[in-house]
This record gives sequence, structure tokens and C-alpha cells, in this order.
Amino acid sequence: MNLFDTVQPVVYKDGKVLFLDQTALPLSTKWVEIDSIEACWNAIRALVVRGAPAIGIAVAFGMSIAAMDYHGDDMSAFTSHMKKAHSYLATSRPTAVNLVWALNRVCSRIDATRDVAEAKNAILSEALTIQKEDEDICRNIGVHGITLLRDGMTILTHCNAGALATSRYGTALSAVYVAKERGMNIKVYADETRPLLQGSRLTAYELLASGIDVTLITDSMAAYVMGKGLIDACIVGCDRVAANGDTANKIGTYGVALIAKAHNIPFYVACPTSTIDINTPTGEDIVIEERDASEVLSFMGVASAPSGVKALNPAFDVTPNALISAIITEKGVIRPPYSL
Ligand code: MRU
Repeated sequence: MNLFDTVQPVVYKDGKVLFLDQTALPLSTKWVEIDSIEACWNAIRALVVRGAPAIGIAVAFGMSIAAMDYHGDDMSAFTSHMKKAHSYLATSRPTAVNLVWALNRVCSRIDATRDVAEAKNAILSEALTIQKEDEDICRNIGVHGITLLRDGMTILTHCNAGALATSRYGTALSAVYVAKERGMNIKVYADETRPLLQGSRLTAYELLASGIDVTLITDSMAAYVMGKGLIDACIVGCDRVAANGDTANKIGTYGVALIAKAHNIPFYVACPTSTIDINTPTGEDIVIEERDASEVLSFMGVASAPSGVKALNPAFDVTPNALISAIITEKGVIRPPYSL
């Protein structure tokens, strides 16, 4: 069986919405059934499902659950019920623009329907379409991304922007998967990505399972490996690209970009065009999620700092456009200057 059949973050099967619990990986493979929008909200906030495109897919199915929860046939009451669900799910995580993009897309289907039953079907169908489209989009990101790589190259990535964060292929890792399909050999160094270890728990897991040569490093080793000439290019995913090309991604990405610049190593951002937010002028305008300090004060659930010490926990940082060599999308590779 193909890796992509086993590591789908969101599955709709027999009328049920299931999230693969990414907080349990790689130690165990557990599926969580999502049966209410509160369960959907909590799962997104707790990173059971995470990664910008996967969050978009998750809320789209969350909206379908909200639609099914409405019992009645009054279209205007149904519409206001769905608007409330939209506002509620929009608060689950603030940084990834794909979340609100998917909510808007699902809601836009309601207007063209004549009754509640038709609207419910349209909402589910839109969620399934968003999921299927993401698969094609991600593969195309890889097809364009591969034009920046040569056989035998080694890339460094940060966080997880792979199959676990999307519908198959991923964004940053898509070029690596497409390269493998074409018989090319691309090696990957994966930053472990403190505090929640998406690099070691998820990226290393899915690349290893796919037979890709992956080496795990701690975040603080990125300068070492780049300084030693071990890295040919960096490729990361992102949660939001501002109109000027500034890009928000997992905390630590900015540092990786600075190190890459210092060593003349290309730094690429890979994302679907739905992650580009022309309504956000610059990186300064991107809302950065602040998470609970306990994630920094502990390691895999075990306290790793003295009780009472303060901790900062921004989940993302912004890489200025000047550090980004190119943005890889499903439509092609965008080079600076960025005027998106
Ligand atoms: O906090 P997370 O795990 O949701 O952060 C995810 C990232 O930063 C990814 O790089 C980004 O969402 C792109 S996923 C294709």
C-alpha cells in the first residue's frame, strides 16, 4: 500500500469524519471520529490535525457536520446557523489563511441552493472537492518544485509540510516525492521543530515510511549542516503569504532562512495559491498564534524547566520576502520581486 493511503490527515468514510491523531504519531496510529463542531475546533486547536491545507480541509468537513446538526427546513435559519459555525471554527487557529479560505468556500455554496437538504449536500460536496483538489494542487507543487532540484541534492526542511499536512504529497515535501516517482534521489535533513516536534514526529516518520533518505537534526544544528556544505537548498511550507511575499511558517523558519542566506543556499517556500493572502499587505499584518507556555516548559509531556519560569511560545514567525529565493505554487514558481 502507498504511504499516501495510510497517512491521510482527514478521511470521510461511511458518513463519518475521521482525523488521524497527529499528536500520537509516530508512537501510535489512532483515528479520532469528529462528530460535532466543538470536537473539530478542539482537534484543530490541539494539533490533532495541523498544517495549513489540512486545517482547511478539516474545517470544511466541520462545516458539513454543522450542516447535518441543523434540524429544520427554514433556509434563513439554516444560513444563520452556518454563519455562526463559520465564525466559531474561524477562531480555532489564527495564522493559516487556508482555514478562513475553506470556510468561505463552503459557505459560498449555500446561496445557490433552494432548500436545506440541497444546501447540506452542496456543503459536503464542497468539502470533498476541496480535499480532492488539494491532492492535485500538491502534486503540481512538486512538479514545479522539481525544476529547482537536481538528482543527488540534499534539502533541509523545517516542521512538517508533507502528506500529513495536506491531501497527499504535501507542499515542501512534494518535490521530494515527485523526484522519487521519477527515479531521482533527493535526500532530506529534517529539523526536529521544537516545541512540538513536527519535524521528528511527522516529517521523519513519513519520509522514512516512503523510503526517502532522511536525517533528523535538532533545530540548533541547522547552521552547522549548512556551514559544512551538506545542504543544497531549503524548502519549507507556509501558513500565509502576505501580498509583498513575506511568509509566516512554523517558528524557527526565519532563522533557517537567515542561515541559508548567510551560506548562499537557496531558500524556497512551497504553498498552494490559496495560502497567498492579498488582503494581508505585509508580514507585520499576519496574526501570529501564541500557544500555551506549557509546550515550551515540557518535552513529550515531561517537565523540562524549573517550575515558575516564564516561557514564550509563538507558534509561527515571519520570513521577510528578501530572504525567499522563490515561492513554489501549483501554478508555477514565483521569483522576486514579489507583487502578489
Ligand atoms: O503548527 P502546525 O504544525 O500546524 O504548523 C505547520 C506548519 O508550519 C507548516 O509548515 C505549514 O502549515 C505548511 S503545511 C503544508
